[in-house]
Formats: sequence, C-alpha cells, structure tokens
Amino acid sequence: MSHTFVIFGASGDLTSRKLIPALYLLSKKGRLPEGTRIVGMSRTEFSHDSWRAGLKKTTEEFTGKKFEEESWSKFAAGIYYHPGDLTKLEDLQGLKALLEEVEGGPAERVYYLSTAPRLYTAAIDQLGESGLANQEEGARRIVLEKPFGYDLSTAEKLNKDVNRVFPEKQVYRIDHYLGKETVQNLLVMRFANSIFEPLWNRNYIDHVQITVAEEVVVGRRGGYYDQAGVLRDMFQNHLLQLLMVTAMESPVRFDADMVRDEKVKVLQSIRPMSSDEIARETLRGQYEGYRQEEGVPADSQTETFAALRLWVDNWRWNGVPFYLRSGKGMSCRTTQIVIQYSQPPHTLFDQKAHMDSCRLVMQIQPAEGLQMQIQTKVPDEGMMTRTTPLDFRFCKEFQGEMPDAYQRLLLDALQGDASLFARSDEVELAWGIIDPIIQTWRSAQAPKLHLYEPGFWGPDQSNDWMAEHGRQWFDVCPVLH
Ligand code: BG6
Repeated sequence: MSHTFVIFGASGDLTSRKLIPALYLLSKKGRLPEGTRIVGMSRTEFSHDSWRAGLKKTTEEFTGKKFEEESWSKFAAGIYYHPGDLTKLEDLQGLKALLEEVEGGPAERVYYLSTAPRLYTAAIDQLGESGLANQEEGARRIVLEKPFGYDLSTAEKLNKDVNRVFPEKQVYRIDHYLGKETVQNLLVMRFANSIFEPLWNRNYIDHVQITVAEEVVVGRRGGYYDQAGVLRDMFQNHLLQLLMVTAMESPVRFDADMVRDEKVKVLQSIRPMSSDEIARETLRGQYEGYRQEEGVPADSQTETFAALRLWVDNWRWNGVPFYLRSGKGMSCRTTQIVIQYSQPPHTLFDQKAHMDSCRLVMQIQPAEGLQMQIQTKVPDEGMMTRTTPLDFRFCKEFQGEMPDAYQRLLLDALQGDASLFARSDEVELAWGIIDPIIQTWRSAQAPKLHLYEPGFWGPDQSNDWMAEHGRQWFDVCPVLH
C-alpha cells in the first residue's frame, strides 16, 4: 500500500527546519516507502508549485552539502499543498478530496500536527468528523509534538480527546530525544552486550547522573518559556525518557508495547515525594539576565535550571540515587549519562593519592560516544593510580554524519513502529512525577531560586547540594573531533 505524509501547520518553522529536510534525506537515501507523497496544509495561500519552491530553498539551507538537485526534483514531484484551516470541516473536506485524488486508491496516512498545541483537540475532532481518521482505506496515524498537556489533568484530557478519534496504537507522541542515535545505542549497549547487564544494578552502581546542559539561553522564546520553565520544557519529557532508557529492564522483544511496558514500570517505581522532601531533593536556578529576555516579566520566578534527586524503588535500583539536571546558559552543550560505579570494597593502593572509582560516561551529544573511565597504575610512581579513559567515538568508528532524530522517527511513524514514541500512560505518569514538584515550587515551601551566571554549570549551590550527599557532579565538556 502507498503512503501519504500529511503535515498540518505546514507553513511553520518545524516543517521547513526539520520535517521536510528529514523526509528529503530519507528519500535521497532510498529509505522512504516507494511513492510516498507529502501533503501540506495551513492557512497561508500557496499553490503546489510555490510551496515546493519555498521548501527547496529552506531544504537547501538546512541540509547544506547533502542537497542534490536531481534527488530534490524526484522528491518534490510528490509534494502537494492545500490551503485551509484545520479546525474547519469544509477545509478538511477539501483536503480529503485532494488526498483521494493524489492517492488514487487505498493508502496509509500519517497526520502530523505541527500546529499550536491549543489547536490539537479542535483539529482532532475535525479529523474525526470529516472521515479523515477512518481506517477502512488504510491505516491512519497521528503524530503529536510536545507539549502533551500542561500538567497531569490537561494531559489526561488531551489523551482522552485524541483517543476518542484515534485508537492509542495509532497515536505517535514525538520525543525527539528517543530519535537520537545514541539514546537508541544505550539500549543496544545494555541489551546486546552481556558485560554491562550483570553490573547494572544496586550492587555495583553508586549513583547515576543525567545531565542535559545547554549553552544557549532562552532568547526569543521567552513568551513560551516563562510559562513552561525547565521542568515542563525538559524534565517531563527528555530527562525522564533518558532515565527510563537507563533504568528499564530488558523487554521480552523489541516491540512497541513491550518496550513501553518496561519504561512505564520505571516511572511507576519512582518514589513520590512530600513537599518537605521536594524542598530537600530538588534545586532551582535562574540565569542572570533571564528577566531581561523578550517576553519575560521583570519579576519572573521561572526556573531555567533544575536538579532533582530521584529514587527508583525496585529490586534493581533500590538505594541508588538518580541525579538529573538541566539548564540553559550553561558551560557548553552536552547531554550525558554517567554511571558511577561504587568504590572497590577494599583498597590496596596508596591511600594518600586520590582514588576515584570506575565510571561509564555515555555521551548522547554532541560528541556521541562512550567512555569507560578506569583506574590504571601510573608508571614509575609506586602503586599510584590514575583515572584513564577507554574511548569509543561514533564519528571515528562510523563514517558519515549522525542522522537527525527526525529521520528515524518520521520513518518509524510511516512504517507503523511506535517503539520510540511516548504512550499515553507514560506521559501521564511523567506528569505525575513532575506536577507535585512544580506545585511545591509555586508554594510557600518552594526552595530558594538561586541565580547563576551564564557560562558555567548552573548555580554554585548545586555543587554544595551534591557535596552534602557525599558526591560531585561530573562537569566535563566533551572534546569534539
Ligand atoms: C526542546 C526544548 O524540546 O529541546 C528546547 O523545548 C531545548 O528548549 C531542546 O532547547 C533541546 O533539544 P536538543 O536536541 O538540542 O538537545
């Protein structure tokens, strides 16, 4: 059966910056199912040709050296546009007529909502009303971009609204972190090598650190960001996804529901916190200058940095803290997961010299790779030890650039594989963890908001907080080759 990829909100930035370049590169590599068409819809008036011409320019810009005239022409021949408002039934009926005309028979469709989230419910209702969600002439899948709600109750409502029209198996909630090669490699590393798994538990691991540091500041996104803050923007989705992939048990098969069942169990195991515990176990920060950003009130209390200590109460992880932190205006852009192994039970060597213990550093971006940091003997220095790296870099081992996360995710959506997409229960459980923290942070019990200077690793208090737990952050910017 042929495929159609329908983009709502087609004149937006995401379409030109991410979606079309990813689809074009898939087509160029011969990965798109044969004859896949792309149909865009938004309120802006374009003809098929003028939309194609605009996309050509932006795709050239965003794919740079990878752009080729010949493969573009082949790809662009399958691009169509229909102007209209997706919350209006008659406009969707017009789209339906175009789809039936270009498809000329049964076809599988992916509907990608790249619109303002406040339009999701109205749009989904109209997709149902117009018959566009009807599965009789081929599968109809819907892809949603975050935010999936603003808190637990809005997420529950959105899930209900979506599931009224699209059964859960047809719903694809994108978290682009799951499309990153290195996040998927974490699953491969854990479950395709027998060396790690026996040591991946409370008996050998002291703690886990997950850092998503961004050098950029909020910039022109102040209006959105001030309502969201770092917990909604990064933790509810990306950081909890990284935690799930790190902590989950092996699924029986690599099947969408089996993978997601295991991830969900991790969220179910996270220890709930009282407000007092939240005040102790979390840290909030805001970079200096944030209140001067466009769209941000001068007295904003919104966090641009957060650190949390979470406990996963199950047999594997009992007693192992997971430290999560993320912030804007940090020292460099890096996403890394550090598995800090415990000290050996008995130390034989020079106690005067500092003895670090072994750690595994998984670099998700930008220098994708793995580093095992182990103790070795320093030559000619008695029995003194030093931490030395065993290094694996994707760019050295594999030629070519890492594909953008959207390539993998869009292809999976077209092929009907939801393993790397968030399921409704996952999203609701994640809100169930984040919501109480946000509520405490907005109450009289809120921990102090620490200001920090951009360009470092967040507020100094975050180091003191770790020191109180007898630990320290692993603050290293990756070396890029
Ligand atoms: C988005 C957030 O989901 O992820 C942004 O809204 C953030 O604020 C971005 O900058 C980070 O993604 P990446 O892939 O650059 O790490």
